[in-house]
Amino acid sequence: MKIIELTSRITEYPGINDVVKEDRELLEHAIKASEMAYAPYSNFFVGAALRLDNGEICLGNNQENAAYPSGICAERVAIFSASATHPGAKVVCMAVVAHAAGRELIHPISPCGACRQVLAEYEMKFNQAISLLLMGDSGPVYKIEGVKNLLPLMFSRSDLGK
Ligand code: THU
Repeated sequence: MKIIELTSRITEYPGINDVVKEDRELLEHAIKASEMAYAPYSNFFVGAALRLDNGEICLGNNQENAAYPSGICAERVAIFSASATHPGAKVVCMAVVAHAAGRELIHPISPCGACRQVLAEYEMKFNQAISLLLMGDSGPVYKIEGVKNLLPLMFSRSDLGK
């Protein structure tokens, strides 16, 4: 018997002004995307902005529905849109921000399990780790190099022999 320990690596910056310019710009795109979210049920507004290797920026935000499970997270809207409109372009980095009605989010939010699995699919498709930038309304920015830091032991196409 042996214990296998898995570790995750996150770089924390004090705030948006402490990251490099291109990361700050991507976070600003994500903030703009969050302002366009359709979240009348949760009042929790999430924005995602991703940078492709062809220089394009794609946006997404959460889209809710009266039939709750029919809604979809900002991260999946952004990455599915990128794949639909630029199918050959690699995703280099994705910024995710959120704000909630009536309270300040002082911690970064982090993609849900389903979004992590979807991000992993595109990392595998292009054989390239996706950087993530995560931020609340204020406070620290987390930078994470690759979904493996959020989803250890992930199920992958290689498990299917593909
Ligand atoms: N949500 C996202 O869009 N991304 C996340 O990373 C977490 C949650 C959305 C789903 C739902 O519309 C609302 O936030 C509350 O869960």
